[in-house]
This record gives sequence, structure tokens and C-alpha cells, in this order.
Amino acid sequence: MIHTTKRVSIRSSLILASLCIGASLIPLRVKAEPEVAPPVLRINAEKVTAKVSPTLYGLMTEEINYSYEGGLYGELIRNRAFKAKADEATFWSAVGGGKITLATNSPLNEALQVSLKLDASNASKDAPAGVANSGYWGIPVRPQTAYRASFYAKASEGFNGPLTVAIVSTNGTTIFASEEVTKLTGAWRKFDITLKTKKVAASKDNIFTITTTAPGQIWFQQVSLFPPTFHNRANGNRPDIMQLLADMNPKFLRFPGGNYLEGNTIPTRFNWKNTIGDPAQRPGHQNDGWGYWSTDGLGLLEFLYWCEDLKMQPVLAVYAGYSMHQQHVTPGDDLKPYVQDALDEIEYVTGDAITTWGAHRAKDGHPSPFLLNYVEVGNEDWFDKSASYDGRFTQFYDAIKAKYPNLQVIATAKVKSREPDLLDEHYYRSQEEMAKHANDYDKYPRDAHTKIFCGEWATRVGSPTPNMAGALGDAAWMTGMERNSDIVLISCYAPLFVNVSPGAMQWKTDLIGYDALTSYGSPAYYAQKMFSTHHGDEVVATSAEGIPTYHWQPVARRRNGVEQPTPPAEDLPTIFFDATRDSRSKTIYLKLVNSAGAAQPVKIEISGVAGIAEKGKSISMKAEKPDETNSIKEPAKIAPVTENALQLGASFTRVFPPYSITVLELKYH
Ligand code: AHR
Repeated sequence: MIHTTKRVSIRSSLILASLCIGASLIPLRVKAEPEVAPPVLRINAEKVTAKVSPTLYGLMTEEINYSYEGGLYGELIRNRAFKAKADEATFWSAVGGGKITLATNSPLNEALQVSLKLDASNASKDAPAGVANSGYWGIPVRPQTAYRASFYAKASEGFNGPLTVAIVSTNGTTIFASEEVTKLTGAWRKFDITLKTKKVAASKDNIFTITTTAPGQIWFQQVSLFPPTFHNRANGNRPDIMQLLADMNPKFLRFPGGNYLEGNTIPTRFNWKNTIGDPAQRPGHQNDGWGYWSTDGLGLLEFLYWCEDLKMQPVLAVYAGYSMHQQHVTPGDDLKPYVQDALDEIEYVTGDAITTWGAHRAKDGHPSPFLLNYVEVGNEDWFDKSASYDGRFTQFYDAIKAKYPNLQVIATAKVKSREPDLLDEHYYRSQEEMAKHANDYDKYPRDAHTKIFCGEWATRVGSPTPNMAGALGDAAWMTGMERNSDIVLISCYAPLFVNVSPGAMQWKTDLIGYDALTSYGSPAYYAQKMFSTHHGDEVVATSAEGIPTYHWQPVARRRNGVEQPTPPAEDLPTIFFDATRDSRSKTIYLKLVNSAGAAQPVKIEISGVAGIAEKGKSISMKAEKPDETNSIKEPAKIAPVTENALQLGASFTRVFPPYSITVLELKYH
């Protein structure tokens, strides 16, 4: 996308216009106009226009970009159950003179029927043979850390050697930890080992190996390696990424997708019943929407534990009979089993241990029910060309409401037959489009029964994670959602995660990046954190005068290969804002986004309170250039800074830095 921006029409003193080429903004200095009065922002702190929804800020998640396996889910072994490719032990290699093949003649159980066979007939003391796995772009090693390795194994008759289980550097020069297991027989047996590293430097260019010096044949299944996990959960999550999420103070988790819920085909949907119980009894499935295998190690109960660990409520998306390759289930009798699956799923989440599925959950380790308020029926069903969603939604809605009248039911596309409690809207946009639409929710009807779930949104600027331009677009958009959070009850950015290793990404702008060893939040991550951790419980009236604008010329789009007429140019604001208050702590939270490349003075006038303290707090994030960003190497180059804010009052002028997002905390009496 190339669009040249014309001269800005500005009333403040100095400002930059921008030339936007592709995803990067190049600032152009525009001749300063004569000194004029700064824009005025008025806050009427006694005029409450809406309640801030307590669930406004949450998370959206699905298996994309190696979000779970190779991401949040702690498992370090890639293709642990050998089902990733039917004819190849992909991501596994032989060590020494060993030969590896996939074996289908000795299943571990009905779910895991393919094992890895090691032919170690030439193994000897001088020439060990074995298998190796290089994990998800490396096996991370940290100093003085205990790793839990486990696997099932069996051996050919007469095999009497131990197996050595180890984490070693890829070049083979360093053994970080190693242990032996013995007593293999001709029957499957599970081995559990702890591998403890010493005082070593953290690294990721490592592999996991199981080797032997004794000749024979050995079969392996469900080979697993876990580092310490968040809250020490078995089968749990990576602590550094969980901490990044915890710091956002999210109120809900929308799962399991996204496209991942639907699959390309009905058989490759997220079939929740296959994702519970012992991980070694889960068949896994091809995540064909995003092109890789999922073991379903992070299944329904793990999503719920994730909610529990971060004190979030689930927003449970149930499969609604539509998969992305235009496969749909006809409403009526054909759809009944899918509706029943959804009811069973809700019972698994919320039912007492005396209910059928509540009892399953109790057996799986969680006797008490989880709180559930929101159920979403499908995902992006506007893509269903058969127009079956109205009928499918009705069938789900009626069944869910009949059994669970208090559940809020979310539709993913407009329907006529029922009034959904919420409608899920998705917006992936450029920075300019976010600016253009930042006030859209001001115009939504306030008294409509159907509220809004902005269930996927993002300013798609920067890759693999958004840069400051992305954060500025997001922040502009968030001012609109927060100001209207009586309408937008819940909202979440998407996608949440990306493994930044070569070849891991399917979607080019993602909130949080990581490799096998470290993780970081993008500027957009910090923008969200600023919004979700600094707001009151009531929105107060704001108005403004003299907000500077700039001229934006949208590019002509192509439709069906045909160039469309160039859309008319538009004037877009360079300042976005909203204000909330917390009457208990007597704080006003003013959020102000300056998307221009020059500092902008703004006069702030506050009425409706007896007075404003002279001292407050400023939480502000800024960049020198809009394409500045964070990365594995510079994880917090762009991050908010908290400072005292002085010379505040009922009327004051404050200069907001170029390319900045600011929360001002103002104390009132
Ligand atoms: O967030 C990435 C994808 O975008 C989601 O899976 C889908 O719902 C949307 O089209």
C-alpha cells in the first residue's frame, strides 16, 4: 500500500505529516504555521456517560504462529507422538549409527498408534546410537533448572542396556544434564526422569537425546520434556509468557479460536472431547487452518487452568457446524449432535461434579466448576456462503438458553431470527483506518439489546510484532472502545502470539513475540497494558476543540483483479482521547494519543469537581520514529515510563511528545 499524505491542516504549532510506504511511516516536516492557541480538551468529571465494562480488556488465543506448541505450552519436544507427518519421523533424527523409522504395529493405545522405532543393532560402548529432537527451534537451557523428561519405551528381546537421556548442545560438545533409565521390557512402560542443569549460561542451540550403548531395537512413544511451568502446573505453561500476560491484567480469555476452532474441514475442527484427560490418550489433530499438527496437549482443561492462573473468565467459543472450506452442517437433525457437543462442553466447564461432564472434569483433576458467562457460537460465520448461520445460530442459541438462561450468547455474524446478547466484530486495519474509525462506537445505538464483543482487532503495521505506528493505531482505537464500553463489553486483540524463529509465523502482526528462550511485548502490547491497567469504572464526558488533522489519501484497492477508483482524501485527527474516573480513589484517567511526529501542546480543562491536585502521575510511551519497535534483541526499547506529573489543575496545558501514548492520572476532590 502506498499513499502519499498531503499537507497537514494544523492548528497547533509544529507538526509532521507523513508519507506512508507499505507498513512504514516516514515523517515529513511541514512548515510551521504561525503560533496559534493549542487544542482544548474538556473533561466534565461529574457527567458520567457510561460504566466502564469490567470485562473490557481480555485476550484472544488460538493455535497459530506456534502459539501453544512452540510457544506458551511448556512442552519442549516437537512431534512428541510422531503424528505430525504420516510417513516421516519429522523433527527427529538418528544419533550415531542408529536408524529411525515410524512403526505402526505396536500402538501405545487407540489414540497414539504410531511409535518411533530405533534400530540400534550396531550400538556399542564406543559408538552409542539413539534418537534426537531439536525442539521448537532449539531446546532452551537455563542454569540450575530441573527439566521433567518422560516417555514410554519398550525393547526387543534380549536388550539389556540402559538408555541415557540427555540435553546436549547441538554441536555435541556440552552435556547440560543426563540420566540413565534401565529395565526396558517387551511391554510399554513409562519412564520419568529429572534432568538438572548446573551453573551454565542460558542457551537454545541444543537438542534432547535418548541413546544406548547396548545393541537392540527400542520403540518410543509420547516423548516429553517440560521446563518448570507457571504455578508449577503439570502439563503447564511457560512462565515468562504467562507473566507478560498477567501484567496486562486481562479479564477474560477467548478460546480456542479463530480459525483453529473451525478447521478447514469438519473432521479437523477443534473437537474438545479429544482434548481432555491424560495427554498420552489424546489423538491430536491437524491444525489445517494454520498448517501444522497439534497434539492437543493444551486442551480444554488447560485453557481453563490458564484462565484460573490469571484470574480471567473464559469466553468459550463452541464449534457451530461450519468449517472454512465451505463445509457446513445443515440446521435441524444433522446439527443436533454438534449442539449436544456444545452443551456437554458447557457442562464440562460449569457443571457440578454430579453431572456427567462435570464428573469428567472432576476426574481430570478439577472438581469445582469454572465460572462461565459468555459462550460464542462459531467464528466469523459471515464467511459461510451457504447462509446457514441464521439457522445454525438459532438452534445453538435456543438450546443454550433453555439449559443455561444466564449465559450471554455471542453471534459471530448478523442474524435475524434471534437477538444475540453480543455480536463479535473483527477489525484488522492500517493505522489510518484505525484513526478514521476511532469514533465509530460513539454512533452505535445505546439502547440496543445486542452489545459488542470486539473479538479480534489489530493495527497491522510491523512484523512479526507491531511497531509504534501499530501501537498508535491501537491506542486510538482503544480510546473509542473504552469511551463506549457500555456498548463494547468485551474486546481482545488478535493474534496474541508469534514464535519469531524462521518459518514459524503464519500471520504477520502479532502482539507478543518469543523464541525458545526469551519473549517480549511489542509496543502494541505495552499500549494495551497501559489501557487495561489504568482506568476507572465510569466514563466521563469529554469534548475537544481545534484538534489538528492531517490529509490522508487512501490508496485505490483492487477487487477481483480490477483496480477500483481512488477513494476521496480525508482529514484524520492526530489526537485521540478518552477519560474515565474512579470515584473510590478519586482519580481521573485521561488517555491521550498523539500520533503526529511533533510534540503537541494541549490545554486541558476539567469541570465538575471541586479541584484537581497539582501533582499526579504520567504513564507515557513514545518513539522517535513510528517504525521503531521491540524485538528479541531489544525487548523493551519502546515501553511506558511512569513519572510524577506536576503543574496540574482544573486548567493546564501539557505538551504531549511526538508519537506518544499517555495516561494522566489526575487526583480530584
Ligand atoms: O487472528 C487470525 C485469524 O483472523 C483468526 O483465526 C480468524 O478468526 C480471523 O480471520
